[in-house]
Amino acid sequence: MRAQILGTGHFLPDSVRTNDDIAKMVDTSDEWIRERTGIRERRIAGPELQNSDMAAGAAKRALEAAGVDPREVDLIIVATVTGDHPMPATAVLVQQKIGAPNCPAFDISAACAGFVYALTIADSFIATGRARRAVIIGVELLSRILNWQDRGTCILFGDGAGAVVVGPQEDDSAGASAVLGTSIHTDGSLAPSLIIPAGGTAKPVTAEVLALAENKVFMRGQDIFKVAVKNLTSTCKQALEKGGITIDQVDWLCSHQANLRILDQVASRLGIAPDKVLTNIERVGNTSSASIPILLDENVRTGKIKKGDTVLMCGLGAGISWGSALIRL
Ligand code: UT7
Repeated sequence: MRAQILGTGHFLPDSVRTNDDIAKMVDTSDEWIRERTGIRERRIAGPELQNSDMAAGAAKRALEAAGVDPREVDLIIVATVTGDHPMPATAVLVQQKIGAPNCPAFDISAACAGFVYALTIADSFIATGRARRAVIIGVELLSRILNWQDRGTCILFGDGAGAVVVGPQEDDSAGASAVLGTSIHTDGSLAPSLIIPAGGTAKPVTAEVLALAENKVFMRGQDIFKVAVKNLTSTCKQALEKGGITIDQVDWLCSHQANLRILDQVASRLGIAPDKVLTNIERVGNTSSASIPILLDENVRTGKIKKGDTVLMCGLGAGISWGSALIRL
């Protein structure tokens, strides 16, 4: 049994932080950030918003778009590295906030690849008949785990959530909506290149940890950049192969929005036309696991992505973990 996406939704906080705002906090400039990343501004959650609020907001919109009652939901997967609490999972809070009692709800941690990981898991649950109405959410409240004195990281990220509802294929004729292929990978040898060194059980928070900001995101940007271009290109090729289609049959590349230069290089290596490459990094920055479903939903809602379109999604981040998913909407 194949899975298909039944509805999409997203949630972005109202508050905008521009590059000029950040240039007042660290030694950087709007010009540098735009040229090196493509970002002009990002959304920042105010103190009243929690990760689970954004996740629930996106999930409710996806359920509404799918025409699915929350009480029908039989699986919730939240992909996040910025959950409300170390325990319990954010998915259990989302379960309560969307009113979906009695379904299994759990989080997965695959950073910027989280959404394609979650979709791959949901696809397997649907394929084996273990779920019929799965809500998959990518959500991040990164602004609370960034070091706002580190110009190498604080310029890049933003907050937000995106969600999809996944169910069994309603029609199995050729050209019908379906998850056509997914591919996920991990290379733990690069774990130190993108890490929050402290705050877990390996190194609990102490006064020294706080003074050194070791409980905040640390990234060797160049290390990640180099592998991102190579690995995103290869994983996309694997998803295409699994789906049995060629790149010229893809309508849209809906990639993780890590950096516009990464995106341009991946698109060029894949040989996909620039007008098929969707972006929103200029407005929302890098929202890690939330970026693919936010971008997907924005373009579904404006009518750019239409029913029947073929969409190639890919993401790479901390781990490093990466993956791709090819869907027909
Ligand atoms: O989504 C999760 C996975 N993450 C990624 O995919 C991120 C991948 N990496 C990147 O996007 C890029 O590496 C960054 C945007 C983070 C950094 O861009 P870069 O072109 O790789 O810059 P760099 O780190 O090589 O630094 C180049 C120069 C350095 O100065 P010197 O040593 O050449 O004098 C940095 O100190 O730019 C300097 N620099 C800055 N200057 C102004 C670094 N950050 C900034 C800044 N403003 N914000």
